[in-house]
Amino acid sequence: MSILVTGGAGYIGSHTSVELINAGYDIIILDNLCNSNRESVKRVEELTGKAVKFYEADIRDPEALDKVFAENDISSVIHFAGLKAVGESCRMPLEYYENNINGTLVLCASMRKAGCKKIVFSSSATVYGEHNVSPLTEDMPVGGTTNPYGTTKYFIERILEDIYKADNEWSVCLLRYFNPVGAHKSGRIGEDPNGIPNNLVPYISQVAIGKLECLNVFGNDYDTPDGTGVRDYIHVVDLALGHVKAIEKVLGESSFSVYNLGTGVGYSVLDMLHSFEKACGKKLPYKIAPRRPGDIATCYSDPSKAKRELGWTAERGLDEMCEDTWRWQQQNPNGYK
Ligand code: NAD
Ligand code: UD1
Repeated sequence: MSILVTGGAGYIGSHTSVELINAGYDIIILDNLCNSNRESVKRVEELTGKAVKFYEADIRDPEALDKVFAENDISSVIHFAGLKAVGESCRMPLEYYENNINGTLVLCASMRKAGCKKIVFSSSATVYGEHNVSPLTEDMPVGGTTNPYGTTKYFIERILEDIYKADNEWSVCLLRYFNPVGAHKSGRIGEDPNGIPNNLVPYISQVAIGKLECLNVFGNDYDTPDGTGVRDYIHVVDLALGHVKAIEKVLGESSFSVYNLGTGVGYSVLDMLHSFEKACGKKLPYKIAPRRPGDIATCYSDPSKAKRELGWTAERGLDEMCEDTWRWQQQNPNGYK
C-alpha cells in the first residue's frame, strides 16, 4: 500500500517524502509543478536510494486523480498541494479559492470513489486569526482569518470535519503548522521561493548570499521583548517527522483530530537574524521598516497535544534551522534551477 503525497515536489512535501520513505512507507507524489521543480523529486530519490513514482497532474483534474487511484493501491493521502502566498491571495482571491478549495473537493471525491478515506491535511496557524493569545491551543476558536489564503485553510478544515461527521469511515488529521524553516541536513533539498521572498528566513538567507541588499525589519515597536515580531519557527525536518506520526494515526482507528506542529517557543526577528549571522559567519545588514499590514506581535504554539497523543516533539533549535538553511542556500544559490 502507498501513501499519495499531493504537492510532494514542494518544500514541505519533499522533506516529508524523505522521512516517510526512511520510515519504510511507499509513496507516490502528485504535483502540477506550479510552484516546484521536478528536480526536487529526483533529489528525494537520491537521498533515500528509492525510486519514487511521480505524476505531473493537477488535483483539480478528476480523471487524472481517478487514474492514479486506479493504477495504485493507495491507503491514505497527505495533502500538501495548494497555493500559499498571503499577498498574492489578496490580489488573486478567485485563483486561491478555486485552486485550494476546489482542488480539495475534487481530491476528496476521487478518494471516496476509490474507497480511500484517510487524509492528513496541511493547515496553518493562520486559522487562529488575530485575536487568540499565544500559546495557541487546538481548542481555541478559529476562523478570524485576515486574508484569502488563510480563509482557504479555515474552510478546508471545516469541509474535512463535515466529511468525517457524515461518514465516520473517514480518518482526518489536520496539522496546523507554525513557521516552517530550515532544510535537509544534506543541503540537497530546501525552500526555493520564486522571486523576492516574502518570508523572513528565505529573505535573510538571500541577504547573506548577497542577492538582496538588506533585511527590512517590519516594526520594532511591538509589545515583545525586543520590539520585533515573535514567531514559532519550526525546522522542516521536525515538521516532516510530525507527518510520519500523523499518518500512523490516520492509518489506525478512524478519527478526526487536529494538532499544532510548532516548538512552543517564540523567537523575534532579531533573534533569527543574529542566529543566522552565527551560521554564515558574518554581520548582516538590516534596517527598521514600518510594520507590515496584517502582522501580529506574537504567535507561538502550545505543542503539548501532539506530544501527548502522537508522541511527537520538535527537537531542532534555532541555530540548527539557520545552519541548515545556509548550507542549502550556499550549495544551491539558484535553488533547483
Ligand atoms: P510549496 O508551494 O513548496 O508546495 C506546494 C506544492 O503544491 C507545490 O509543489 C505546487 O506545485 C503544488 N500544487 C499547488 N497547486 C496544485 C494543484 N492544483 N495540483 C497539484 N499540485 C499543486 O509549499 P509548502 O511550503 O511546501 O507548503 C505545503 C502546504 O503546507 C501548503 O498547503 C501550504 O499552504 C501549507 N503551509 C505552508 C506553510 C509554510 O510556511 N511553508 C505554513 C503553513 C501551511
Ligand atoms: C506568514 C503568513 C502566514 C503563513 C506563513 C508561512 C502573513 C501575514 N502571514 O507568516 O499566513 O502561514 O507566512 O510561513 O504573511 N519579517 C520581517 N522582514 C521580512 C519578512 C518578515 O521583519 O522581510 C517579520 C514579520 O514581520 C514577522 C516575522 O518576520 O514578524 C515572520 O514573518 P514571515 O516569515 O513572513 O511569517 P509570518 O508573517 O509569521
